[in-house]
Amino acid sequence: DFHKAGLAPCGVCCSLLWDVAQKSLYLRNNQLVAGYLQGSNSALEEKIYCVTNRFFKPEKFPIILGIQEGRRSLACGTGASPVLQLEDMNITELSRGGNETTRFIFFRSYKDGMWRFESAANPGWLLCTSAQSNEPLGLTLHQDAAHIVDFYFQLF
Ligand SMILES: *[C@@H]1O[C@H](CO)[C@@H](O)[C@H](O)[C@H]1NC(C)=O
Ligand SMILES: *[C@@H]1O[C@H](CO)[C@@H](O)[C@H](O)[C@H]1NC(C)=O
Repeated sequence: DFHKAGLAPCGVCCSLLWDVAQKSLYLRNNQLVAGYLQGSNSALEEKIYCVTNRFFKPEKFPIILGIQEGRRSLACGTGASPVLQLEDMNITELSRGGNETTRFIFFRSYKDGMWRFESAANPGWLLCTSAQSNEPLGLTLHQDAAHIVDFYFQLF
């Protein structure tokens, strides 16, 4: 089982996120996409900025994820098929919010060096990449061959 797990305390942390198939994230048409960046394209990899939210269910290790120094945040829609999108919101300011920031929050869990990120607004829905290359980062309720839900998450 994956266990809820904290990270070393930090303000805004900078990290790289890969899926277990070693695909990294880059921006295409205003969306984060997972693919194999080779050669000079590796410079396109997006650094992921993260911050903990201490005021919302701290026991579940809530985290807010963003890009571009934390100026843009990953947000989850709600409803039958929640969609992941980027919004121009500062992750540090969001981290001070209460339950109104739920759609920006992911509960993180850890096992054997891999992380999962569950949408706080959509219980059971996990951050995922497609098994195919160059498909958008998204959310899934299903852990199957088509969806990768385990990530390596390296803080630096
Ligand atoms: C985000 O907001 C914090 C606090 O207001 C500020 O210090 C920081 O510079 C902002 N970050 C960016 C990338 O604008
Ligand atoms: C936030 O919490 C307040 C008080 O518990 C509640 O009235 C409100 O509906 C909640 N808002 C959201 C978005 O969950």
